[in-house]
Amino acid sequence: MSRPLTKQEVQVGADLQAWMAVGGGTVLRRGLESPARIIPALEASGLRGLGGAGFPTHRKWSAVAQQPGRGKWVICNGNEDEPGTFKDRFLLSRTPHQVIEGALLAALAVGAANVALYVNPRETASVAMMKAAVKAWEGHDLLHRLSNVVGEQLRLTVSEGSGLYIGGEETAAIASVMGRFPFPSLKPPLPVEHGVDGAPTLVNNVETLAQAGLVLRIGPEAYRALGRDEASGTKLYSLSGDVLRPGLHELPMGITLRELVFEHGGGMLANQPFKAVFTGGPSNTLLTEADIDVKLDFDSLRARGSRLGTGAMIVVGEGTSILRKTAEYVAFFAANSCGQCPSCKVGTHQVSRILERIEAGTGRSGDLEALGHLTQLLPGSGRCGLVDGAATVLASSLRSFPEEYARALEQQPLRFSHPGG
Ligand SMILES: Cc1cc2nc3c(=O)[nH]c(=O)nc-3n(C[C@H](O)[C@H](O)[C@H](O)COP(=O)(O)O)c2cc1C
Ligand code: SF4
Repeated sequence: MSRPLTKQEVQVGADLQAWMAVGGGTVLRRGLESPARIIPALEASGLRGLGGAGFPTHRKWSAVAQQPGRGKWVICNGNEDEPGTFKDRFLLSRTPHQVIEGALLAALAVGAANVALYVNPRETASVAMMKAAVKAWEGHDLLHRLSNVVGEQLRLTVSEGSGLYIGGEETAAIASVMGRFPFPSLKPPLPVEHGVDGAPTLVNNVETLAQAGLVLRIGPEAYRALGRDEASGTKLYSLSGDVLRPGLHELPMGITLRELVFEHGGGMLANQPFKAVFTGGPSNTLLTEADIDVKLDFDSLRARGSRLGTGAMIVVGEGTSILRKTAEYVAFFAANSCGQCPSCKVGTHQVSRILERIEAGTGRSGDLEALGHLTQLLPGSGRCGLVDGAATVLASSLRSFPEEYARALEQQPLRFSHPGG
């Protein structure tokens, strides 16, 4: 969690005049000159969703823009509660107007009059900053011009979520904005057709919207060129775990894992050998030593059977147990299941129980077989991706680190210690 901000920090960060003095407003002015050019510019930029799935942003915007009717919504998804991901809270609390301009640009492009800045209430710095920043936009000429183009009075609000991890799933975010418990719902209908109050709704991640603004500001070609090779733009990588310099690193999309860990991350903690990375948060296939030169972009990671996800990279050295980490993450998923789908509620708890006892050295014969069976049974069995994430990380750790499971089951716990320790 970010540290709270002082009143003065909020005042400075939310100062709209200061933002306008450094080129703020350019994005909206350009958009207002020719709204029809916004979505093609996004397409040319190659921008993809940075909230986890990597869906091409222009396609989602286009789908909402094509829907008839009034009362459309844009939700800027700042729920961010997955272990290892800490990028959106930085944008919300440090550069709020960049996020707001991106969200307003989206509203202009899709014809939405309602913009909800959906923030995790436990991130008090983000909430305080966004509230002050929204207040600063009240009565601004750009909002009047935007309302005129959309044909409805624009409403820009901060919507505090439930503080639950599941509230970040897009249909759960919609329920939350409507004041309901954040239960994910079955798709279809998709949010782009049927979202808040039944109206077409665009749900985008905070970083995606901030980047959409940047595309308009510098142009799609310049934006593309910020990435390496075929990858576009920059990415906020949340780097944590066994590295010397953990933290948020904004780097070209498509840098290699080796560069991230050994140059920007300063190398491995206590010089221990690199073992693996939980990529994109703990819900994807692990990258191992064999993947150290993989490029960190959507397509390169997909080609390795993994995913970029949110860009979280939780680095694990030889001194850390993968079995322990997997048990921790599955326990997180089990604790955060919303309970609607029996396979998820029961399955994640069952996996968690088995992992805990294997890790404690009290595993039973048949435990590995049971885990293997659950990795087959669980994917695709729930309404949302939570259960898939739990099954993916489990399957991946069983596949890549079977010796840790085998040794724990033989009741010969590995001694994890840092070199020299
Ligand atoms: C369990 C779960 C939690 C999620 N949490 C978040 C979140 O906190 N923030 C977010 O942007 N997307 C989250 N997502 C992904 C959203 O459903 C959705 O794909 C995303 O907000 C779309 O934005 P993008 O296209 O800009 O990536 C979550 C998905 C799942 C299954
Ligand atoms: S898969 Fe799990 S978290 Fe998702 S809706 Fe079903 S019970 Fe809830």
